Amino acid sequence: MKNQHSSKSFENTLKTLLIAVTATGFLASCTPKPAVVEGTKTSNTEKLAAGKTIYENSCGRCHDLPDPTAHSAQDWVGIMNSMAPKAKLNDEQNALVYDYIVSVK
Ligand code: HEC
Repeated sequence: MKNQHSSKSFENTLKTLLIAVTATGFLASCTPKPAVVEGTKTSNTEKLAAGKTIYENSCGRCHDLPDPTAHSAQDWVGIMNSMAPKAKLNDEQNALVYDYIVSVK
């Protein structure tokens, strides 16, 4: 009788622990995502992160990193077309950087 009782409360403790771990994991996986993405797919988030990395590594070499909000999305098309060759970006990298820049509001 005594054993049965203690194994039952052990089981409850395990359940509580499992819920706590699940909840923590869920929060942790949600926190770092930028809130700007429209279709909140993981692949979008990853693309924006990749674009940000390329941007930070490639666009601050000749001048200060430009402010993404200083130009309109339309203007950035032309700017990226003239800057991508300077930064030696291929078309895909150009698109990733462009998508990141216009995602910054
Ligand atoms: C090889 C050097 C070089 C690299 C790399 C470079 N730029 Fe530039 N950038 C320049 C020069 C030179 C100018 C000023 C003359 C001009 O506009 O062409 C400039 C100007 C700019 C301007 C101002 C344009 C305007 O119309 O006011 C922006 C914005 C800009 N760059 C963004 C970027 C971005 C974004 C990247 C990364 C994809 C980048 N640059 C990479 C050399 C570079």
